[in-house]
Amino acid sequence: MSKGPGVEKMFDAIAGRYDVMNRVMTFGQDRHWREFVVDKAGPVGSGWVLDLACGTGEISALFKRRNASARVVGSDFSGNMLHHARQRLGSRDFYWQACDANDLPYRSGAFEAVSFGYLLRNVDDSLSVLKEVHRVLAEGGRAVCLDTTPPAKNLLYPCIRIYLAVVIPLLGRLIARDQSAYAYLTGSTMDFHDADNLAKIFREAGFRTVAYKKFMLGTIAVHWGVK
Ligand SMILES: C[S@@+](CC[C@H](N)C(=O)[O-])C[C@H]1O[C@@H](n2cnc3c(N)ncnc32)[C@H](O)[C@@H]1O
Repeated sequence: MSKGPGVEKMFDAIAGRYDVMNRVMTFGQDRHWREFVVDKAGPVGSGWVLDLACGTGEISALFKRRNASARVVGSDFSGNMLHHARQRLGSRDFYWQACDANDLPYRSGAFEAVSFGYLLRNVDDSLSVLKEVHRVLAEGGRAVCLDTTPPAKNLLYPCIRIYLAVVIPLLGRLIARDQSAYAYLTGSTMDFHDADNLAKIFREAGFRTVAYKKFMLGTIAVHWGVK
């Protein structure tokens, strides 16, 4: 069965508490990772940028802050996430659109850059979504992906495992009032491609000069590649 309908329902349910939960469980670090995403997308001038799976629009807002004349499209399949993005950032400087990352309603070569924060872990087929991202990018355009990544089995692993398996679901219950959504975050992180494999899938989708950088004791990775 496709992950899509369950994931959409889950994000609709937590949209109102999503930002505060991010701040708390990442000790405020999530903002720096999003800044890094926009750095890696490079300057886009007055070109079109797509923030795919934009959620409440945090990466979209950073794109606009750094590239005042860029045309920023924020798209997501969760109506409630888009509602919060629209409420926070308005619709004058952004184009908000409901769509599924598996089947983008954009012409080939439309965007100078495409970002996607915490999307790939939630789709059935990362390769097929990356191919779709590749299709909508212009030649020379950049894709930048921010996501959680399974931690390496080193000395810190037991502590990280406890944080992921116990602390995050507990915070989810207390702050987002949805323990299962945050237990899902842990489960989907442990089941996701490790960073080297995800880099391989980027290359398989057609990207070149693929690289990544890890954050937060190796539990977060930003991958990027050029079309
Ligand atoms: C964890 S949130 C991330 C939001 C934002 N990118 C950020 O950095 O905070 C994941 C988002 O991906 C969206 N999403 C998941 N699967 C999707 C799909 N197949 N198509 C479009 N959006 C999707 C969810 O609705 C949710 O808003």
